Amino acid sequence: MNETLSLLMNRKTVRKYSDQPVTEAVKQAILTATFRAPTAGAMMLYSIIDVIDPSLKEQLAINCDHQPFIAKAPWLLLFLADYQRWFDYYETSDAASLCEAFNRQPRQPQEGDFLLACMDALIAAQTAVVAAESLGVGSCYIGDIIENYEKTKMLFNLPKYTAPVALLCFGYPVEAEKKRKMTSRFDKKYIYSENQYRRFSADELADMFPETDKKAENPFAELPVGQQNYIRKFTADFSVEMSRSAREILKNWQSDEN
Ligand SMILES: Cc1cc2nc3c(=O)[nH]c(=O)nc-3n(C[C@H](O)[C@H](O)[C@H](O)COP(=O)(O)O)c2cc1C
Repeated sequence: MNETLSLLMNRKTVRKYSDQPVTEAVKQAILTATFRAPTAGAMMLYSIIDVIDPSLKEQLAINCDHQPFIAKAPWLLLFLADYQRWFDYYETSDAASLCEAFNRQPRQPQEGDFLLACMDALIAAQTAVVAAESLGVGSCYIGDIIENYEKTKMLFNLPKYTAPVALLCFGYPVEAEKKRKMTSRFDKKYIYSENQYRRFSADELADMFPETDKKAENPFAELPVGQQNYIRKFTADFSVEMSRSAREILKNWQSDEN
């Protein structure tokens, strides 16, 4: 196995960080590699906010479903889908004035632009994860950054055509975290198919979750994993809030107000 594959195969999420700071040189190396991530039309439809202020970190730890380790992360990056920068550029360069000559309708960023910018932001985030890993710096995605959009918007002064898509905690792992067991993955047949989408029978779905992971200690451990997941995650308050917040983000993009 080559070095890159070995790095990818051995990566695991790191949530407990040692006191070792991530130096400026290491941060810059990770950021420089991140900026080389593939990006739609080379437009870099994302922005990265380095969350340095401890009070902002504390707020994020609370707003992101109360995960205190977020505030303890030595380095915290917020990845935004960002069409604002380009739309501002269209406006400052009076681009819409060309519409008549080119027989085009002027428009504002819409749903497709939103998804494209989300793709760019996530690809950049994952590039940062891999670059960090290569330098021994562990990371953890915080999906709960999708929650409480209004609060995130206020905290970081986010303009209309931006959206928080990923929060990444970075830091060197403590010893116990280095030794933590890898999280298993589903068998390839559930994830990969050729040419056509594949749906599964009840029996196949019941077999999807690896036996070893079924022993997880939680109050619902006796239930089938499909039921556990539905109660612990899918219908939990944080999931409901995530969808409310996501609707609010889209509503904001779609409104005519600036
Ligand atoms: C989109 C996304 C959101 C995640 N959100 C959280 C989170 O809010 N808190 C957390 O502790 N881990 C979070 N994780 C980390 C996952 O729990 C972790 O990747 C998963 O359990 C697999 O473990 P591994 O990365 O060690 O292989 C998130 C990962 C992804 C990709």
